Amino acid sequence: MAGLADWQVNEPAPAHVPRERVVDIRFAMGSGQNDLLDPYVESDALRAPGVPRILYSPFPFGDKSVGTWTVSHYEDIRRVYEENEYFSTQGVAQFQLLAGETFPSIPLGIDPPQHGKYRKFLNVHFTPVALKKLEPQVRAMAVEMIDSFAAKGEVDIAYDFGRVFPVRVFLDLMGLPFAMFEQFLAWEYEILHSRDHQRMGAAVRQVIAYLREFIAEKQQHPDEKLGSYIANGVIDGVPLTPDVVIGMTWFLWLGGLDTVASTISQMFRRMALDQPLQARLRAEPELNHSAVEEFLRMQPLVNSFRILKQDLEWDGVTLKTGDYITCLNTSGNFDPAQFPDPRTFDPARSVNRHFTFVGGIHLCLGAHLARRELRILLEEFLARVPTFTVKPGGDTTVTAGLLSIRNLPIVWTPN
Ligand code: HEM
Repeated sequence: MAGLADWQVNEPAPAHVPRERVVDIRFAMGSGQNDLLDPYVESDALRAPGVPRILYSPFPFGDKSVGTWTVSHYEDIRRVYEENEYFSTQGVAQFQLLAGETFPSIPLGIDPPQHGKYRKFLNVHFTPVALKKLEPQVRAMAVEMIDSFAAKGEVDIAYDFGRVFPVRVFLDLMGLPFAMFEQFLAWEYEILHSRDHQRMGAAVRQVIAYLREFIAEKQQHPDEKLGSYIANGVIDGVPLTPDVVIGMTWFLWLGGLDTVASTISQMFRRMALDQPLQARLRAEPELNHSAVEEFLRMQPLVNSFRILKQDLEWDGVTLKTGDYITCLNTSGNFDPAQFPDPRTFDPARSVNRHFTFVGGIHLCLGAHLARRELRILLEEFLARVPTFTVKPGGDTTVTAGLLSIRNLPIVWTPN
């Protein structure tokens, strides 16, 4: 197993960062590709004895051009998500800066106490009761899509299904027109996967221009959907400002599209590669709930970062105000101190408080919606499509960290 000495690098780092903690652990930060059944297994080395709990990655990450501290243990990650007096989300997922926009991403980029009022405002559309109302449409969409290819014996489950289904659900939730579907996916791909700041900025500019027109239209012609609720939103009797309206609409657009799509692709990758698991899920549909949670734990999509609000002495180093710290959910979700036998996919795991939706006050607003989509999909797919495998020659390489797989052809013998 690789260790600290293998990772240490001579890259420039701020003066307060001890040299021995400056490491290249990009394999755990979303830049390394592999084709393992469990693509995150290499992250275990980060929690090995003798490795400091806090390391420093000097390389640019996400939309940032500077380095970041990292934490890998479950307890340390929980601390970062929960101690809001030290760790701020201001500037997180702030891709709009690349387009010269200064409004914040809401609610993610807002610290307490303001965060709570925006979250309360949005929660109305994400309560179990509200989501239950959506369920018949979501199920009908899933069934219609699965039926369109079930008899063919083959589908590109990532491109033709995973990419499409959650976007249809999201457009319906927001009241965005289905005609924008391909365009949204193209923009989303540029922002999250092009890794080129100029291309990212150009796509962000177009999305925001489109969303501003959409908001204006909903202010003229309101309806009962979430997009209109935000466009005409009022908190404590005061109408939301234009910056708040675009900040919420934009962040929902960013958070709601690619995340579920990537999770679906990973779910099918795992089932196609792990036949005993697939057989068990078919034989025991009552495991549906806990199995979805285990899929989520085993494939954390993003490593979230926070910004230091005040200096903090921790693990023998000084984290300075303004430093970034990245929580390696890709490691914390496999910490044996929290999850017994963490590398075993246990579809019946009963206690499963993973960080795929992070923790603390910024816990993903769409978590229940995403879970519901995944459960419906698992149920309807396994009931309609017999045992499937990866199509011979299909490439199952993934990028661990923003586990992304664009194409995943699967095959089966139609009933
Ligand atoms: C499997 C699917 C999803 C995953 C893995 C996921 C993941 C995440 C993560 C990691 C965060 C926290 C980011 C951070 O703290 O740095 C987050 C926050 C958020 N997500 Fe999701 N998400 C998913 C689906 C969705 C959907 C479908 C929506 C909306 C329709 C959504 C809306 C949001 C919002 C609004 C926040 C910010 C919450 C706050 O700051 O209070 N997410 N999500």
